[in-house]
Amino acid sequence: MDERIVSGEALEQEEFEELSLRPQRLQQYIGQHQVKDNLTVFIEAARMREEALDHVLLYGPPGLGKTTLATIIANELGVQIRTTSGPAIERPGDLAAVLTALEPGDVLFIDEIHRLNRAVEEVLYPAMEDFFLDIVIGKGPSARSVKLDLPPFTLVGATTRAGLLSAPLRDRFGVLSRLEYYTEADLNEIVQRTAQVLDVEMAGTSSVEVARRSRGTPRVANRILRRVRDFAQVRGDGIITDALAKEALDLLQVDPLGLDHIDHKLLKNLIHTFRGGPVGLDTIAATVGEEPDTIEDVYEPYLMQIGFLQRTPRGRVVTPLVYEHFKLEVPKQ
Ligand SMILES: Nc1ncnc2c1ncn2[C@@H]1O[C@H](COP(=O)(O)OP(=O)(O)OP(=O)(O)O)[C@@H](O)[C@H]1O
Ligand SMILES: [Mg+2]
Repeated sequence: MDERIVSGEALEQEEFEELSLRPQRLQQYIGQHQVKDNLTVFIEAARMREEALDHVLLYGPPGLGKTTLATIIANELGVQIRTTSGPAIERPGDLAAVLTALEPGDVLFIDEIHRLNRAVEEVLYPAMEDFFLDIVIGKGPSARSVKLDLPPFTLVGATTRAGLLSAPLRDRFGVLSRLEYYTEADLNEIVQRTAQVLDVEMAGTSSVEVARRSRGTPRVANRILRRVRDFAQVRGDGIITDALAKEALDLLQVDPLGLDHIDHKLLKNLIHTFRGGPVGLDTIAATVGEEPDTIEDVYEPYLMQIGFLQRTPRGRVVTPLVYEHFKLEVPKQ
């Protein structure tokens, strides 16, 4: 599972490799036009008023560019970014330490913000709303309450699970930006940009081929491109041609829609064992040996995006598109 080439989640080592591929300015950030247009206006306005930008929540599936966008927001505002994550802030005191270290206007980026615990969240509310810190230090009779003014700052939160965010926290964000899967054209542009950064030549329409099989996800596109480049170096003369891209992708077992053997197993299971559904989430999870959460977060979003899977009140159902994809006869109702 961890090593799925089409997984939107970062693999080990990848965080480091990705650094050099991250666009630094809004102009270089490809796609997500609506999110970008909105942010451009809000950033410009904040700069003109010389105020901190409103708090921003970025949500969407893994690998679509939330962390990248957080860094870009800070760059565009011309301020520093401090990065932390929900699970890293264990106690209110940890959050207080981070908040009091901020300079006016800074961006505080909290990744996986849905994983903040309750006690920490309570400290975050007044900090977000009134730039005010109110915490209790110590326990028992020696406990004392500390109140402090904070510099104005912008909280940028990122999550793959907006639904898990508590309502009071969600309500304190002024800007809610949902990242969508990228179109093939946008991904193609990303692949070409990455090829330039990696200094590898892509001939013909090979970049389209890579884009098409990347599940609308830049992280997957960049990963596939690196693997195809290795293939071109070993099997060819370093140039990625159409034929070579196709051959490499087939070898990597990524089909023309970006589905891998695990997607195939899941879908074929639904068809052959459950006559296409409806099937409950727990049953699907058990038959492919995964946690229900993993099925919901990692497998399903893309399958639903391409119209292969539907959620109904009675369970998951495959659509006729799946039968067509596997060249199977669609069963009569
Ligand atoms: N709009 C874009 N244009 C060009 N490259 C992008 C874009 N969005 C993302 N990328 C590339 O995809 C990689 C993954 O993006 P990023 O780490 O920002 O995703 P993420 O949404 O934070 O993922 P996660 O949910 O795992 O934290 C980056 O290294 C970057 O190179
Ligand atoms: Mg991230």
